[in-house]
Amino acid sequence: MSFLTADKEPRCILCNGLSINDNPLLELRGWIRAMLERDGLAHHPCMARMANDVAFSKGDIPWDISQPHPALVNLVETKRMAPGRVFEPGPGLGHDAVYLASNGFRVTALDISKEAVSMLRKRVEKLGLDVDLIVGDVLRDSPTEEEFDYIFERSVLQTLPPSQRAHYVLGMSGILKPKGEYIGIIRGPRTPMPESQPYAFTRNMIEQLLSTHFRNIEITRVASGFNSGQSEYFLVIACRR
Ligand SMILES: C[S@@+](CC[C@H](N)C(=O)[O-])C[C@H]1O[C@@H](n2cnc3c(N)ncnc32)[C@H](O)[C@@H]1O
Repeated sequence: MSFLTADKEPRCILCNGLSINDNPLLELRGWIRAMLERDGLAHHPCMARMANDVAFSKGDIPWDISQPHPALVNLVETKRMAPGRVFEPGPGLGHDAVYLASNGFRVTALDISKEAVSMLRKRVEKLGLDVDLIVGDVLRDSPTEEEFDYIFERSVLQTLPPSQRAHYVLGMSGILKPKGEYIGIIRGPRTPMPESQPYAFTRNMIEQLLSTHFRNIEITRVASGFNSGQSEYFLVIACRR
């Protein structure tokens, strides 16, 4: 199948835009391809936005555990995380964001899916919580000031293509206060390692990715909270350099 247009340059099958350096065209694969039921090349933000909108609007959300992740609850209950400002990329239905906001944290959450943000907005309004919600791409629309005590993310790094991970880590380190911490729940290795979303990480991959901008990187094994018989997850805690 050819994805070439009349001008012979491949274009995104979702927005019709060209491949550019910081937004290359990638082949639709894995979960995204299944959700969109399409083949071809597309920009990562276009595919993530549309595939997640489909998933949230259909209620077909395989990763959702309907509760805050137990590893996060443990960090808060043991006071390893003390109330402060948190940026959460990719909150999805927002169990973690709601939990943090209910426990004295000031949360800013950004998701590329407008469906997810709309569902989360209704939820926080119903609960009377104050959470700043943004629809956007974590790689382009995240805050830029050094204003957060924590970045908390669950299962977002694993959705980003390899070429964009370093940019993500740089961006996240740059919005932490000098003693701020990155806390992530990240998909561990499976056999075979998938080459498309959701990607999987070894401990070495996580250390290599984070070590330029973070120090004291702690990696511990945790349950994913769902299909844990099949996949391994890591809790990663790292201090900004
Ligand atoms: C696997 S889900 C995890 C959701 C939630 N953290 C959880 O664990 O239930 C990934 C989330 O990241 C969002 N997402 C994917 N790519 C994104 C991007 N480039 N910028 C912002 N959000 C993104 C998706 O819409 C989705 O809500």
